[in-house]
Amino acid sequence: MNFAIKKLWLKHLTLCFSLALFTSFSYAQSKIKSDEDWFHLADSLLKLLTLEEKAGQMTNVGLTTLTKGPFWNSFDTLELDSDKMHNLLIKSNVGSIQNKGTYPPCRYEWARIIRSIQDYIADNSKHNIPVIYGMDAVHGANYTAGSTLFPHQIGLAATWNTELAIITGEVTAYEMRASSQMWNFGPVLDLSKQALWGRIFETFGEDTYLQSKMGVAFLQGLQGNNISDTLKVASCLKHFVGYGTPVTGKDRSPALIPEHYLRQYYIEPFKQAIEQGALTVMLNSGTVNGMPGHADHYLITEVLKGELGLKGFVVSDWEDISRLASVHRVAKNPKDAARVAVMAGVDMSMVPYDASFAQHIVELVEEGLVPMSRVDDAVRRILFVKFKLGLFENSWHNPDHYPLFGSEEFAKKSYNTAAESITLLKNENKVLPLNSETTSIFIAGPTANRLTSLNGPWSRTWSGDDPSFDDAGKKTLLDALKFNFGDNNVSYRQGTDYEGEVESYEILLKQAKNADVIIVALGERPSTEKPSDIDNLELPENQTELVKRLAKAGKPVIVVLLQGRPRIIREIEEYADAIIHAYWPGNEGGRALADVIAGYVNPSGKLPYTYPRHSAALYTYQHKGSDRLDHTFGMDGFNPQWEFGHGLSYTNFELSNLTLSRNTFSKNQKLIIKVDITNTGDRAGKEVIQLYIRQLVASISPDEKKLVGFQKVYLEKGEKTSVEFIINDHDLAFVNLKNKWVTESGVFNIIISTRPDNFLESSFNFE
Ligand code: BGC
Repeated sequence: MNFAIKKLWLKHLTLCFSLALFTSFSYAQSKIKSDEDWFHLADSLLKLLTLEEKAGQMTNVGLTTLTKGPFWNSFDTLELDSDKMHNLLIKSNVGSIQNKGTYPPCRYEWARIIRSIQDYIADNSKHNIPVIYGMDAVHGANYTAGSTLFPHQIGLAATWNTELAIITGEVTAYEMRASSQMWNFGPVLDLSKQALWGRIFETFGEDTYLQSKMGVAFLQGLQGNNISDTLKVASCLKHFVGYGTPVTGKDRSPALIPEHYLRQYYIEPFKQAIEQGALTVMLNSGTVNGMPGHADHYLITEVLKGELGLKGFVVSDWEDISRLASVHRVAKNPKDAARVAVMAGVDMSMVPYDASFAQHIVELVEEGLVPMSRVDDAVRRILFVKFKLGLFENSWHNPDHYPLFGSEEFAKKSYNTAAESITLLKNENKVLPLNSETTSIFIAGPTANRLTSLNGPWSRTWSGDDPSFDDAGKKTLLDALKFNFGDNNVSYRQGTDYEGEVESYEILLKQAKNADVIIVALGERPSTEKPSDIDNLELPENQTELVKRLAKAGKPVIVVLLQGRPRIIREIEEYADAIIHAYWPGNEGGRALADVIAGYVNPSGKLPYTYPRHSAALYTYQHKGSDRLDHTFGMDGFNPQWEFGHGLSYTNFELSNLTLSRNTFSKNQKLIIKVDITNTGDRAGKEVIQLYIRQLVASISPDEKKLVGFQKVYLEKGEKTSVEFIINDHDLAFVNLKNKWVTESGVFNIIISTRPDNFLESSFNFE
């Protein structure tokens, strides 16, 4: 410990309480450099706290516990209630607040609310410890009116462009700070190998490598190198671990994942994000192998905090500690649940309706059921993050210091991301792009004229399905097509809703027959978490029927998909000449889609998951080899609608000259892989070069293939470039049945592809 820090300690230890202490911490903050220093500072504050104050720091409540009216109110203003503030912030010492009511406040209102809370604490509490305010800013600062709404994470993953992930993180952090929000409940690092799960859209998809690269890049944008920078925020990785692959596909339901798979596929993205500086982690609300995520001492304390070295704190998900008693039955009652969770390693409870958790902690310590050392460890971690985040210096911000909030510049960044996410799944006879000068369009379908169908959930409200919060001036797909093709060349009829009746063929045909092309915009009603549970992965029948009826008009049919997960469209596929998958592309998604349709943008998105063909055949690309392909016995093997990594372009890209720097390599050596790629088509475009390895024989059944690298290049028409990848022995490793990473010698294939059906192959030996 250096002398300056020692002096600082003495200084604030003698100062003790209130503003004087606050000033000394602020001063200390400007001097401190390393995490160790922050922890010393946290320790010195910790020593001043009573048990009640510590328990309060471990408690997170929803904002509407502090406002007038009931918790679930529908008011369009948020008025803080001084009695509730006193009870929760002063008497119960609550240290963390999160989220909001049921409408999106503007950034000035956010500043007012958060400043009032922080000021209340400064004026009335003994130690003046600011609250850490948590927010689900999962595709931009989505709970602030007027913020930039980006594509959801799954669309970001479909860009296969880490630069765009950095930019999305940067803008999100900027607009969160502009709203006085500094702790983001994201990125979502749940690997999803379950197409039925309603939250796939919040993830980076099914592949560990893609997930890790995009997650780390997003984090870099969000946090930078210094989270106290007033343009950066702290992240909260979620939901550790295995949440994204529930057996039934239902949210918050049991997952069965052997530990070696858990380590190889699911833990790895968290590991890399923690190495990149992530300081907080939210837990899995479900169970893995029968053990609830919030009670799992092994995963939380030994793996997450121990092996992965998480320095900050672990927060529960919504109400999930009390659910250890009410749902999972590993505790007798809410107080016992608090004991189980805290002893497993949970540091903060998202209660979120009251401060009962804090009371339970006090009693548990007094009864000797939770040692004070565990409470101290939790609070030390929380204070460390509060210090490191700069909360003692800036507990709120003046929105006027963020002039780029909701700007055209940011909208352009969102547009670029949406444009690169759009994935062209099918383009028979090159029906796309359409000539915007000469083509007339008839467009129908439930997602054709809705901004909510572009933004999806977590957009202004939780479900995102309320059009009264639509942002003025943003274009639906219909608006954007009219803009590109001319008002008179685009006609529209919804034809059917997400579910329900379909208009008769006669009515539809009246309009459709006058157009050159029919566009049908389909998809899911926005929803997340439990409301997103489904029993059937097929798109609702009425939507399939709409396509069938419109196809009878005898015009080319283009299907646009706006949905959170890969809803099965097997029956629709044969009627469609072109199919475009746009995920939930955000506020600029309508323009991006219309620009792809008109050919102003050459699509370059690639599927971040396997798109299934049948509900009872939900595979991921990595395990396809394990299913027998034997037509004699009617075994289809791996036969998805489209495989992971698929995505077409309006131009052609040819791979050639695949070379390996050596045929044999061993531990501590590198293998350099080079390939040429040429744009042989008639227009410029971006393409993703994907690098996979396939181990031919291993001691446990190896992955069919495994992504170990990707690069996105831009090539003018006729242009050629060379791309280089370097891999080492870790890229060949897998986790064996003893849960250890191992690399086994043998023959490996190298597969370089732009799509599953456009690839070059070679092989090497590993000794
Ligand atoms: C979700 C989390 C979210 C939290 C706070 C929970 O229900 O599962 O992802 O961060 O609520 O809104």
